[in-house]
Amino acid sequence: MPLLHNASSVEVLRTAAFIAATIASFAIVIAIVFSRQASAEDGQAAFNNACRTCHSMKADDNRLGPNLHNIVGRKAGAAGGFAYSQSLQNSGVTWDEATLDKFIAAPDSVVPNNNMKPFTGISDANLRATIVGYLKSGAAAPTAN
Ligand code: HEC
Repeated sequence: MPLLHNASSVEVLRTAAFIAATIASFAIVIAIVFSRQASAEDGQAAFNNACRTCHSMKADDNRLGPNLHNIVGRKAGAAGGFAYSQSLQNSGVTWDEATLDKFIAAPDSVVPNNNMKPFTGISDANLRATIVGYLKSGAAAPTAN
């Protein structure tokens, strides 16, 4: 009798472990799906929070700052119809992910005496990466603002 009792508790434990493992793998799959969705939305939200007061992603839509349509790969100071500072105009920079990251961390470290003010820089590297990702993908998105 004690033997049989032991055998069945092992089975109960095995079943419990199996159920726990199954639940855990579902949880992981769900977490991955949600985090993928979140990152695209986070990019837009981060851009809206930090940049949209002054910038639009639409071609020719200059506001307080120049439009950022297709900004990755674009020459600095190239948005038609925007009155840039001499510093930015003559910087010789072509925007890529690295220069954009540096610029939104500390604009003067890439283009001294630029006129992107009052903007104090974003110190959070993850947030910068999220925004740069959005600049890269958002330019082509039909809902880009
Ligand atoms: C307070 C308004 C303001 C905010 C906020 C702001 N910018 Fe700007 N931005 C400007 C202005 C003005 C310029 C032009 C600067 C110059 O002529 O020196 C500029 C220039 C730029 C340029 C250079 C564009 C080009 O055509 O060479 C980039 C890139 C840029 N901003 C990205 C960003 C990003 C990304 C954010 C958000 C993290 C941001 N800016 C937030 C006002 C702003």
